[in-house]
This record gives sequence, structure tokens and C-alpha cells, in this order.
Amino acid sequence: MVKVPVKLVTWDEIVEWTRQLAKIIKESGYKPDVVIAIARGGYVPARLICDFLGIENLLSIQSQHWTEAAKKAEKAIIKFQYKVNLEGMKALIVDDIVDTGESVILAKKYIEENWKPKELRIAAMQWISSVAKIKPDYYAIEVKEWVWFQYPWTRLEDITQFIKRIINEELREKTTKTTKEQLKQKFREWYGIDPPQDYYEDALKLLEEQGVIELQGDQILLK
Ligand code: ADE
Repeated sequence: MVKVPVKLVTWDEIVEWTRQLAKIIKESGYKPDVVIAIARGGYVPARLICDFLGIENLLSIQSQHWTEAAKKAEKAIIKFQYKVNLEGMKALIVDDIVDTGESVILAKKYIEENWKPKELRIAAMQWISSVAKIKPDYYAIEVKEWVWFQYPWTRLEDITQFIKRIINEELREKTTKTTKEQLKQKFREWYGIDPPQDYYEDALKLLEEQGVIELQGDQILLK
């Protein structure tokens, strides 16, 4: 049984989903003057939406809820608060995914109160309808069963944290060493996917730098 279901997302899928999303926005007749990317997950989708819709104005706000892969923080926060004047403008918030919805709910409130756009709508590639507290105005894919979308821009971060979790929550209490192959097998059991080889190697090196493990050829010593 997989502990955390993960879908490994390709760059091609990102382009496909944002193209689809842009089409839906266009067909709705909404013509945003400005796109607001929710940092950090919304950066790449927002940039692609700008390209597909021919929008020049792009800015960003960091509303953070998920600080670690597949683990929620207690509450969402706006990290760097600043003011811009969007009076008279139609704005579009873009994020990669609406999961609980906390990040976009907070960003929307902050933008409405402080930046005062004429109109503000929300777009996301994915909407997890079974858990989200808000339905985005535009989405490419409705997700009914929760899964962690492993987007290409958090690949190293996620894979590193996923490995760390296996070590901390399972391996360390049983043993002091393992092999790269055995750990990879555990990764499959926990997350239902194979870690991409280059990222797997990079993640192991990072964990060695962090003092979590020591690498000796194919052996991994748990510290
Ligand atoms: N950020 C918040 N929820 C997420 C999910 N389910 N997959 C990927 N990134 C996320």
C-alpha cells in the first residue's frame, strides 16, 4: 500500500494543462489586464498563461501554506507584504494547484483589500474538489482523489524530503545502513513511483551534505 500517492508531472504536461487553462479563460470572455502568480508554485503556470493569452503584466505574491512536500503548515501566510495599485484593472490569480485552497483564499483577500483590482478571478491547473474550500473560477483538471503532484520545479526538493521521511519514519528505527537499491525499493512502496535516477543521486548527495546519511559506494549509512 502506497503511503503518499504521487503523480510525477512532466514539463510537457505543464504546457498542455496551461494551454488548456488559457483556452478556458479565453472562451469565458474574461480578459485580465494583469496576472498575479502565487509564489512559488504559480510562477511557471502564470508565465505560460501570459504567453498563451498575450498578457504583459505579471506580478507575484508569496502566499504559503505548504512548506514541505505533501505536508501542510498550520496556516497560510503572506510572506512579503507590499502594495501596488491595481484600481481599474481586471486581475487573474494563477497557482499550480488548489488543494485545501488556503493559499489562494488568503491571497485573494489580501489582493482585494490592498491592491484593489476592479475584478479578481482565480485560475489553477488542478483543483482537488474533494478537499478544497474554494472552487477556482478556472481550472484544467478536477482531481477527485487526493494525490501529490510532483511538479518539475520542486523535483529535487520533493525527492529529498520524500527520502528523508522514509529514513526518519521507518528505516532509522530498524537499521543503521541500507543500499541505494533497497532505498529505491522503499521509495516505490511509499510513493508508488520510481525516483528519476539523476534526481535520486542529487537528493542523496544533498542528504549527505545535511548530515542525514553517509554514502559509501552503493551503501548508505544512516546517521
Ligand atoms: N501544493 C499543495 N498541494 C499540492 C499537491 N497536492 N500536489 C502538489 N503540490 C501541492
